[in-house]
Amino acid sequence: MENPLRYLLLLLPLLLLLPVSSIAQSSGNNITLGSSLTARDNDSWASPSGEFAIGFQEIIPGGFLLAIWFDKIPEKTIVWSANGDNLVQTGSRVELTSNGKFVLNDPSGKEVWRADSGGIGISYAAMLDTGNFVLASQESSNLWESFNHPTDTILPTQILNLGSQLVARFLETNYSNGRFMFALQSDGNLVLYTTDFPMDSNNFAYWSTQTMDSGFQVIFNQSGRIYLIGSNRSILNDVLSNEVNMREDFYQRAILEYDGVFRQYVYPKSAASGTMAWSSLSKFIPENICTSIGASTGGGACGFNSYCRLGDDQRPSCHCPPGYTWLDPLDSLGGCRQNFVQQRCDAGAQEADLFDFSEMLGVDWPYADYQHFKGVTQDWCREACLGDCFCAVAIFRDGDCWKKKVPLSNGRYDLSNERRAMIKVRTDNSTLPPIDEGSKGKDQSTLILTGSVLLSSSAFFNFLLLLAIVLFIRRCKHRKTSVLQTSPAMEGTNLRSFTYKELEEATNGFRDELGRGAFATVYKGALPHDDGINLIAVKKLERMEKEGDKEFGAEVKAIGRTNHKNLVQLLGYCNEGQHRLLVYEFMSNGSLATFLFGNSRPDWCKRTRIILGTARGLLYLHEECSTQIIHCDIKPQNILLDDFLTARISDFGLAKLLKTDQTRTMTGIRGTKGYVAPEWFKTVPVTAKVDVYSFGIVLLEIIFCRKNFEPDVRDESQMILADWVQDGYKEKRLDLLAGNDEETFGDMERLEKFVMIAIWCTREDPSQRPTMKKVVQMLEGAAEVSIPPDLFFSYASSIQC
Ligand SMILES: *[C@@H]1O[C@H](CO)[C@@H](O)[C@H](O)[C@H]1NC(C)=O
Ligand SMILES: *[C@@H]1O[C@H](CO)[C@@H](O)[C@H](O)[C@H]1NC(C)=O
Ligand SMILES: *[C@@H]1O[C@H](CO)[C@@H](O)[C@H](O)[C@H]1NC(C)=O
Ligand SMILES: *[C@@H]1O[C@H](CO)[C@@H](O)[C@H](O)[C@H]1NC(C)=O
Ligand SMILES: *[C@@H]1O[C@H](CO)[C@@H](O)[C@H](O)[C@H]1NC(C)=O
Ligand SMILES: *[C@@H]1O[C@H](CO)[C@@H](O)[C@H](O)[C@H]1NC(C)=O
Repeated sequence: MENPLRYLLLLLPLLLLLPVSSIAQSSGNNITLGSSLTARDNDSWASPSGEFAIGFQEIIPGGFLLAIWFDKIPEKTIVWSANGDNLVQTGSRVELTSNGKFVLNDPSGKEVWRADSGGIGISYAAMLDTGNFVLASQESSNLWESFNHPTDTILPTQILNLGSQLVARFLETNYSNGRFMFALQSDGNLVLYTTDFPMDSNNFAYWSTQTMDSGFQVIFNQSGRIYLIGSNRSILNDVLSNEVNMREDFYQRAILEYDGVFRQYVYPKSAASGTMAWSSLSKFIPENICTSIGASTGGGACGFNSYCRLGDDQRPSCHCPPGYTWLDPLDSLGGCRQNFVQQRCDAGAQEADLFDFSEMLGVDWPYADYQHFKGVTQDWCREACLGDCFCAVAIFRDGDCWKKKVPLSNGRYDLSNERRAMIKVRTDNSTLPPIDEGSKGKDQSTLILTGSVLLSSSAFFNFLLLLAIVLFIRRCKHRKTSVLQTSPAMEGTNLRSFTYKELEEATNGFRDELGRGAFATVYKGALPHDDGINLIAVKKLERMEKEGDKEFGAEVKAIGRTNHKNLVQLLGYCNEGQHRLLVYEFMSNGSLATFLFGNSRPDWCKRTRIILGTARGLLYLHEECSTQIIHCDIKPQNILLDDFLTARISDFGLAKLLKTDQTRTMTGIRGTKGYVAPEWFKTVPVTAKVDVYSFGIVLLEIIFCRKNFEPDVRDESQMILADWVQDGYKEKRLDLLAGNDEETFGDMERLEKFVMIAIWCTREDPSQRPTMKKVVQMLEGAAEVSIPPDLFFSYASSIQC
């Protein structure tokens, strides 16, 4: 009896043959009639070995779940639950009544759930070492077993009989029935389905064993293998053939997770066997859920208007396309909505001018077509969609053009399909106004969710998983006032305050360096989130003023109040002892510098979008946020690119923090050589026009895809781009500068206009430079661009700044 598991295993072949068995006898502790547990105390009934327990877990503050869990590990991972759809309040009770019923009652005594023992009185209950909770009759035959009523998890020795099913939970920490199902149908076929959420009925089969008339039982063997047998006990299908070496050293479970994937996990029983965390084994089904679902109804793996992308770690994550935002920021599988006003159908070309496209490679929504054209060009396809008020997305590949309408369904990202998705977004006034103050906080979470990217190496993943769980448990204890807030937020902002230790853990001891500047080093890190992990960039400020404490708070607050789609969002900070750190969203596509000066020349269309994005971000900093922020260090290294290649300005608001504006010596100048406006070196006040100057230089770099200063060129007159361009412009030979970039050359009118804007921005006299507002208007075509004075004298000083 020291090892009941082994005992059970010996019994296993016998048990398989007996319809009603007598497992309860293997238990050491019988639960007697009249026993009860209350949702308040930490009370639970443990199995003889202590490995499993049944009792209440507090899932949300004041919301309890009657559950069975792994009791010897800190995570207390739940394997079965009774009332996921209907959490009970503090004071609820589960009782084995004196008349032999097992019932869950709310505090008022109203029945919430009961185990169906077939009308026969229960004599005793037992929590077994296998994780099975049984209710037995006087004759010790099991009237009810949790193993026969699984939720989303199965355990070693557990068997699924014909007609059994697992239903995925709604989200990682929401035990309500979710959107996927794993069913051993009574016809013998074993199938993974999407459900018609919120109904439990099945919708689309995305995986099956095709064992109609032959499948009989699904067995989770001790060895770690999960397989389907026929009634003659021959193995019909290796559902998951992960073998677990030294299985007695590991806890095991298999679960249909909320993302629709059936995975198997192991957890070492002691640190000697590995990292103390659940790690998922290499085989799971389906291999790629993003591309497995092909239903003509339903949203697919990620919900309507979103798309699903399989990460390097083989886990799916859901994303909203550009111009779209989460329907419910807390539900990453809930789909997205357009955040702009739809195109009117009665306004013709005028209205079409207000729309433009964001392009994405490899993204497709195969089940939302309403028109298909063959033998057309991409431009034709664009125009066709632009002029059509029904068209939300156009997909182009090799002369084929598909028009799609909303809601888009079954979105997936798959680079192998070589399709170009053109997503139509409104460019004027593109966001819908927020409905109320409350929705602002939600937008914040959107950002966090959008950033959610999963990880590659499994060791690292384990570390993060453990971290996630530890943080989650810690959070549960702190979650008294707010479900959303993880730690104290700075007053008046959504900023989270981190401890140094938290950030040290999140960055794995500041190991992965993303970049280094004179004042700071940036590290990559990850933070656990309710249903995934968010990559972050942690900036460690090195040279902080000693008394900068108050200042730091004030500046961080100012940065935290900014919110614009062309800025990198600050998520939090750490101000502890001599440590000053800032936590930002992680930008997956790196900096504009690498994008521009890499091997291949990025296309002109993407570059113009980046130009506009950068200009709009700066305009916001200068004129639209509550306190004006002068960046002081605009350069391609500080302009980052997100998943959609949208320009996002980083490092703003740091100028004051570093106190360099007061010490304008050469070494104290915050800007970077080549991008710095001339007035930095003079005794005139520094204004927002310094950023306009730097923007002008960056604008030229983006237009011509080369660095402003290129010491290695043969022709000395070409060493400084800004000078070369001035000369080229005077001589009307900009084509020489565009080199062999035919695409850019083909858009000469715009090229010339942008060059003129850049020349205006880089005027020596700050007062002659336009404001960012004017710059944006000129770039967008809303304001005329005049010819700079010394290039065409009669037009001198026609721009008012
Ligand atoms: C549990 O109770 C049943 C019925 O009263 C009895 O047959 C069985 O021996 C008990 N088991 C243990 C371990 O006490
Ligand atoms: C529950 O457990 C926690 C931690 O083990 C302990 O701090 C707390 O006092 C316990 N509460 C009750 C009501 O026993
Ligand atoms: C879980 O999700 C369901 C479906 O959206 C929702 O109704 C329920 O309130 C959620 N439960 C919790 C505890 O958040
Ligand atoms: C068991 O049944 C399966 C299908 O039901 C059949 O293919 C197989 O040959 C049978 N095996 C034996 C040993 O009878
Ligand atoms: C089931 O597990 C036992 C013990 O781990 C092992 O000997 C046996 O080969 C396994 N059976 C199958 C079909 O994998
Ligand atoms: C945005 O749109 C609304 C209504 O569509 C309009 O009233 C408002 O003037 C627009 N704002 C700007 C800045 O274009």
